[in-house]
Amino acid sequence: MPEPLLKVTGLASGYGDVQVLWGVDLDVNEGEIVCIVGSNGAGKTTLLRTISGMVTARQGEIRFAGENLLNAGPDAVLSAGIAHVPEGRRLFRGMSVKDNLLLGAYLRSDRSEVEGDLDHVFDLFPILKERASQDATTMSGGEQQMCAIARGIMSRPKLLMIDELSLGLAPRLIERLGEGLQAINRHGITILLVEQDVMTAFELASRAFVVETGRIAKSGDTATLSDDPVIRQAYLGA
Ligand SMILES: Nc1ncnc2c1ncn2[C@@H]1O[C@H](COP(=O)(O)OP(=O)(O)OP(=O)(O)O)[C@@H](O)[C@H]1O
Ligand SMILES: [Mg+2]
Repeated sequence: MPEPLLKVTGLASGYGDVQVLWGVDLDVNEGEIVCIVGSNGAGKTTLLRTISGMVTARQGEIRFAGENLLNAGPDAVLSAGIAHVPEGRRLFRGMSVKDNLLLGAYLRSDRSEVEGDLDHVFDLFPILKERASQDATTMSGGEQQMCAIARGIMSRPKLLMIDELSLGLAPRLIERLGEGLQAINRHGITILLVEQDVMTAFELASRAFVVETGRIAKSGDTATLSDDPVIRQAYLGA
């Protein structure tokens, strides 16, 4: 087995006096779509924010593509090849869709190739091309999520982490975003997805990690977890 692209071991982190993550182990192999599920407040966002260097880790290891990224800081994590699409999308008000997309590429030195990548994300989500000069924050929720994902891939990441893909979106849009993610994945980008909607998450991902009160309660193939009575009762409404 080759080494996983991302390997998190014994990760602990939190805010001030409050510890949120307690010894989290997680691995993502190159080419996979992996999801993280769990109830509100379980620590999913904190886990992504600790991986991307926005929350300080207290203990543990984060290895990515052979590098140690523990507390390396957000710019170093992005440069190493991890893009983070945050919960709530966080597009910049007063800036066009195109400028929001270009911000995703702000650390790249290959400026000449950035225009080509813009065309690529416009192919992926054609509505973004139609709306290229519109204030990004005036778009619909689904369009904003497409823009946030597209901004993430403008950094040419090896790993794209998305926090709450489907939140507040209609089923048809969620399906469209899912297809977009599968296309991104086919282009060679590994995906780590945090998702409230476990059904959607399990359809997209081949493996899942279940977070409960800051710990990994369960992990495995989504096909196996879908048949697990505890998971079915707690997360699939069965
Ligand atoms: N900036 C912060 N300062 C202090 N505590 C925080 C902060 N952000 C999150 N927390 C706390 O950390 C815990 C985990 O929150 P987190 O946002 O990681 O959960 P989550 O699994 O993403 O939840 P949700 O499904 O609602 O998005 C919660 O108890 C939350 O109140
Ligand atoms: Mg969250």
